[in-house]
Amino acid sequence: MLGRFLAAVTLGALIAVPGSHARANGDSVIEYRQHLMRAIGGHMAAVAAVVKGRLPLTEHIAEHAELIEKAAELVPAAFEEQVSDGLTDAQPEIWSKMDEFVELNAEMAQASAALANAAEEGDMRDIAMAMQSLGKSCGSCHQPFRKPKEESYKQPR
Ligand code: HEC
Repeated sequence: MLGRFLAAVTLGALIAVPGSHARANGDSVIEYRQHLMRAIGGHMAAVAAVVKGRLPLTEHIAEHAELIEKAAELVPAAFEEQVSDGLTDAQPEIWSKMDEFVELNAEMAQASAALANAAEEGDMRDIAMAMQSLGKSCGSCHQPFRKPKEESYKQPR
């Protein structure tokens, strides 16, 4: 009984250890949402490669589009906690205009659903058009809510 209690306490301590608490947690929040965005970006880039290279993988386009739609479900919670300091390109306005942010995310989800439909129909021109709309939906959120390249955390400081 006591042994199990001590084991639980030790495990708790291990999990809680990382030095300055808030900082470590904030970094993880940033890391998580950036990986989520990169996953979305990866699916987008995969679709672009299929379309551009005319690869015989048209059926994959619908799958990637559906995976973007699925990933969009994770975006609101990933951005729920305000962490706008550190190695991030998130603009603080996200948290004063969360309704708008969530709405733009829903628009991306809709655009990816439209791409999935177009891909299932198989008309390359419709697919290309749906791709463009999906691409625009990324920009509609990045424009107000992501720091421009010159201000990006990725730039050497
Ligand atoms: C609802 C808003 C929103 C939508 C829609 C959105 N993004 Fe983002 N995206 C962001 C924000 C905010 C960041 C910055 C996150 C950070 O640095 O903490 C970001 C960052 C990124 C990054 C860089 C991640 C990194 O490594 O720093 C990529 C890649 C990306 N988005 C791709 C996409 C693609 C592709 C789409 C469209 C299919 C898209 N995003 C749609 C808000 C959005």
